[in-house]
Amino acid sequence: MTRYCVFGHPIGHSKSPAIHAAFAAQTGENIEYVAIEAPLDDFAGAWQTFVASGGQGANVTVPFKEEAYRLCTQLTEQARRAGAVNTLRLLPDGNLEGDTTDGVGLVADLKRQGARLQGANILVLGAGGAVRGVLAPLLAHDPAGLTVANRTAAKASALAQDFADLGTIRGGGFDSVAGPFDLVINGTSASLSGELPPLPDDLFAEGALAYDMMYGAEPTVFMAWAAERGARSVDGLGMLVEQAAASFARWRGVVPETAPVLSTLRQAL
Ligand code: ATR
Repeated sequence: MTRYCVFGHPIGHSKSPAIHAAFAAQTGENIEYVAIEAPLDDFAGAWQTFVASGGQGANVTVPFKEEAYRLCTQLTEQARRAGAVNTLRLLPDGNLEGDTTDGVGLVADLKRQGARLQGANILVLGAGGAVRGVLAPLLAHDPAGLTVANRTAAKASALAQDFADLGTIRGGGFDSVAGPFDLVINGTSASLSGELPPLPDDLFAEGALAYDMMYGAEPTVFMAWAAERGARSVDGLGMLVEQAAASFARWRGVVPETAPVLSTLRQAL
């Protein structure tokens, strides 16, 4: 049996062990996957202890994604761009590979939702780690334009500069946002505190999709706001399952089916 885990702090409510247990049952892969609360001041030590106990790979969540990145001796292009990793894999030669599957997870879920990315006008709200991790896969789908808007405008501008070689991307404050947009992705943590970024009412194009990277039993404030303005709104539970599937595939070389796992999680929310 091969051992995997998710590191976070706190980690008690993580859905990852259940998701990976479902993937393992479905694919017949013989793995164990647990949640480990690493100490805030010793992520590296927690990883070493896990490896010493037979650990072969891990997911990494808040607040360790950047520290995990620094620990890696090999990085995928996506991870290098993101400056953070959510997937660690111990390679046979002893190298530690870091990857980030958040962006491909988001794109997979957007496609499942029927969103068109190519030629679309896309707005991403927020300019923190969560947003940095998804910009490259979005730009890879050749949107007509990608706008990053953030409370702290300078962070959005800097982010847009960092990704300018990958496509048409601009950044600024919420007041500089000019729609309409086919797709609006909320990557701020405002939903956590039930807050809404200050946005203009005429944000959405006909048939637009509003996507909140957060999820919960009830629609987020952003989702409710978007639905009132005519957008189809969805939460980020599918992204959680898709990023897990991409990690599982990286470790095991087997791509699990996400739909049944997502449906079970949705019912349990
Ligand atoms: P994460 O890893 O979730 O991206 P982060 O790096 O701390 O976390 O970034 C949080 C993001 O949510 C930032 O873009 C932050 O805006 P600032 O850069 O101006 O701080 C945004 N954010 C948090 N609370 C917000 C709120 N109430 N309204 C609007 N934006 C908010």
